[in-house]
This record gives sequence, C-alpha cells and structure tokens, in this order.
Amino acid sequence: MSPSLTVRRIAADQGAVLRELRTASLREAPYAFGATLEDALSADAASFDATAAERAVSFSVSTFILYTEGHPAGLIEAHFDATAARRAFVCELWVAPAVRHLRGGELLVDTAGAWLANEGATEIYAWVADANRNAMRFYEALGFGPAGEHRRIERAPEQVESLLVRHVPSTSQVFQQ
Ligand SMILES: CC(C)(COP(=O)(O)OP(=O)(O)OC[C@H]1O[C@@H](n2cnc3c(N)ncnc32)[C@H](O)[C@@H]1OP(=O)(O)O)[C@@H](O)C(=O)NCCC(=O)NCCS
Repeated sequence: MSPSLTVRRIAADQGAVLRELRTASLREAPYAFGATLEDALSADAASFDATAAERAVSFSVSTFILYTEGHPAGLIEAHFDATAARRAFVCELWVAPAVRHLRGGELLVDTAGAWLANEGATEIYAWVADANRNAMRFYEALGFGPAGEHRRIERAPEQVESLLVRHVPSTSQVFQQ
C-alpha cells in the first residue's frame, strides 16, 4: 500500500527539521541545488531556527514540508524576488528517494504554487539545471514550460540552468493553511 503523503507549511519551531531535510537533499542530490552540503553543514543551528521562524509567517518567503506517515520526507521553498516585477519562484525542491514517484513532488509544487498565487502571483517560476533531466521532465509533466532565460550555474560555471514558468489558472483555489 502507498504511504499517505501530506504537505504543511513549516512551523516556527522546525529549524532542526529544516536542517535535516536540507542536509539530506544536498547530500543525496548535490547536482540539483545552488548551495552545497558544506554550506548547510557549516551554518549553525540558530540560523536554521531563524529561517524557520521567518518562513512560518512571512508573506514573501515560505517553506513547505512533505510528510509520509508523519515523518518529514521532502521540502520546497516558495518566494517572491526583490525586483519591481516581484516574480514568484519555487526552489530547493527535494523528495526523499524512498517516496519518489508517489506524487509528493507534485503535491509540494502545487501547495507552494497555491500559496504564491494567494499572495498575488500569476506565474510561478523555477530554475532547473539543463543536465537535471529528471527535474526537467517532472516540471514539464506539471505544466511548466520554457520562460526563455538561461544562466550559468554559480557553483558549476561550465553548466547552464534554464528558467521554467507555469501560469496560475484563474480558477486556482485559494491557499488553505
Ligand atoms: C524531481 C523530484 C522532486 C520529483 O519528485 P516525485 O515525488 O518523485 O515526483 P512525482 O511523483 O510528484 O511526479 C509527478 C510526475 O512528474 C514526472 N516525473 C517525476 N519524476 C520523474 C523522473 N525521474 N523522470 C521523468 N519524469 C518524472 C512524472 O510524469 C510524474 O508522474 P507519473 O509518476 O504519473 O509518471 C524528485 O525526483 C527529486 O527530489 N529529485 C532530486 C532533487 C531535484 O532534482 N530537485 C529539483 C531541483 S530543480
């Protein structure tokens, strides 16, 4: 039987959970992220506590956590950038290998997207490394398409990442916390 998957916004006291999920994701899929495992390991616990506290209540940045049978098993960040256009992004997406292909990634993207839409986003963007074919196919399956922007990956300048975008349907449901 498939485990039941749920997604909830991070709570202010979940700094340790955030640290656990970020280090697990950077260890398991270092090719997928701008940060490195060393960055996460060298950050002190207090900085994760501060990040969790902010993301639990902020109107411009949040983290959502995937649970399988009550255990943290994935995460995604949602934020608005600081430009005048205030573009909405999802990033830091990761689902633990043991629960992949069960729609946890889709649930994370849809929940984060609904929160961004509720805060005013009409388009949701994601940067994806061109070499990360799984993530490209995943986002395409969820209705994302090329936004036409490309840039070098800071961590690995010989590689390129592309911007994907999904339009928020006008009938999109209001985010329920
Ligand atoms: C990408 C990732 C988040 C997908 O999570 P997931 O929970 O397995 O994805 P879902 O089960 O929600 O998949 C939804 C759909 O996306 C597509 N998809 C998912 N994984 C795929 C893969 N490896 N290859 C091709 N298509 C894939 C499928 O169409 C799938 O629907 P289906 O299972 O009915 O065929 C997960 O593989 C992961 O954490 N990868 C490592 C980190 C990473 O690359 N993050 C993205 C950074 S940009």
